[in-house]
Amino acid sequence: MTLDRILQSQGFGTRRYCGDLVAAGLVEVNGELCEDPRAQFEVDGLRLTVDGEAWIACTKAYLMLNKPAGYECSQRPRHHPSVYNLLPVPLRQRDVQAVGRLDHDTTGLLLLTDDGQFIHAQTSPKRKVPKVYEVTTAEPVTPEQAQALVNGVQLLDEPAPIAAEACEITGERNLRLTLLQGKYHQVKRMVAAAGNHVSALHRSALGTMQLDPELAEGEWRWLTADELAALTRKA
Ligand code: URA
Repeated sequence: MTLDRILQSQGFGTRRYCGDLVAAGLVEVNGELCEDPRAQFEVDGLRLTVDGEAWIACTKAYLMLNKPAGYECSQRPRHHPSVYNLLPVPLRQRDVQAVGRLDHDTTGLLLLTDDGQFIHAQTSPKRKVPKVYEVTTAEPVTPEQAQALVNGVQLLDEPAPIAAEACEITGERNLRLTLLQGKYHQVKRMVAAAGNHVSALHRSALGTMQLDPELAEGEWRWLTADELAALTRKA
């Protein structure tokens, strides 16, 4: 692909603007200045420096974010800033989207990508990707409540009781809950139906993928090839 198109595909602006960046001597490729917008390169793994900003090119972007509380998973947030504000401009420009949403007050693992098929596959109810939540409750957790969550609780507007895949009591007011579905406010509604109340919620894992402990709240990183392969492996 030509360099101007590669830069455009990475979210650095229109093709013409990207061509101008190159012609102006503002783009390095694999450590060397390239002033020809029509020079051809393979996209994946290309090391770019664009006006001083280092960037690894990729055909599709897959990343994990450690979502802080107080951010909405929406492009048009209503009451809080958007999680997309935590990403660099090129990723926002190329229309990276959250893979399923977390509530504004939920923290933890959020995947984002500009691969629509990946989003569809990961969020499909048929795929049953396990989602692990660390739940802090307002009242002490009882063994009966944990058992009710595994047996299934009836939620308003649901035709049948919904059961957690697993539920472990991890502290006086703490639960680790694994869910196979991704229904609206599901953890909060299930815990309420079991007779308690969620006071804080953190997602620690999705499928085989754990939130990277090196990522501070608000930080993101690319998924590794192995992480991506594990997520896309057929069940
Ligand atoms: N369940 C909830 O209630 N909230 C979330 O953010 C995710 C799961």
